[in-house]
Amino acid sequence: MRIHASVAALREARAPVGRVAFVPTMGNLHDGHIALVRAACQHADTVIASVFVNRLQFGQGEDFDKYPRTFEADCEKLAAAGADHLFAPDEAQMYPQPQRYCVEPDPEHASILEGAFRPGHFRGVATVVLKLFNIVRPDIAIFGKKDYQQVMVLKNMVRELALPIEIIALDTIRAADGLAQSSRNGYLSAEERAEAPRLYQQLSAVAEAVRNGAHDFTRLETVALAELERHGWKPDYLTVRRRADLQTPKEPGEPLVTLAAARLGTTRLIDNVEI
Ligand code: PAF
Repeated sequence: MRIHASVAALREARAPVGRVAFVPTMGNLHDGHIALVRAACQHADTVIASVFVNRLQFGQGEDFDKYPRTFEADCEKLAAAGADHLFAPDEAQMYPQPQRYCVEPDPEHASILEGAFRPGHFRGVATVVLKLFNIVRPDIAIFGKKDYQQVMVLKNMVRELALPIEIIALDTIRAADGLAQSSRNGYLSAEERAEAPRLYQQLSAVAEAVRNGAHDFTRLETVALAELERHGWKPDYLTVRRRADLQTPKEPGEPLVTLAAARLGTTRLIDNVEI
């Protein structure tokens, strides 16, 4: 695997022919990221990954400074998974001047759920992803469904800006007890780690009830939120939405997903289950 720190080096190294698959990450790679890289290898001739902790998508008081940076281990994992190139710019490469031109996603998509609790987050994500797309020029880009709203926003960005890129979203990779793989799991104490699978359990219970015909989503949400609170969680939301745009379901039969974000101690976890 070749590592490129500059935009110019990456552009020069990118193969001029064949399909290129791209896996953007913020590093601290876990099995979920590795599954994305392995899938990329199946879809393309050349696989490019990136590691860049994007300041633009972190709000004030969020964990940008303490976000785990494990570059050596990340390189080993990416090479073992089959990546051909790693783009690993520093901030001076990505933001040589303050980023004044940004992608502003539709507030209907970006100000709800995660966006309501992390104002500006999806603007930061969409902006860096468009910039990375312009640098890497992939044919395919692969993301994990754990960040369900991120995938929805990016799919809409690609469609509305007519980017010639196919977005592929892969299922969340979970630990044996159900906890979704996430870099932020590393913040959990042993006791919190033992409690953490409850988020997935509650989402699964809601999904199961809806699959079995329950219609009163508000009641299901209230019960699940109370159960989390009873075990010491501070939930931001747990809600049933339609998959396509994450709005409140209106018609029977719409494909649904249930999504949640909740704080366990100082760690904020997110997860979702398609229904
Ligand atoms: O999902 C992530 O790790 C980040 O949001 C992404 C897509 C790499 C953009 O910084």
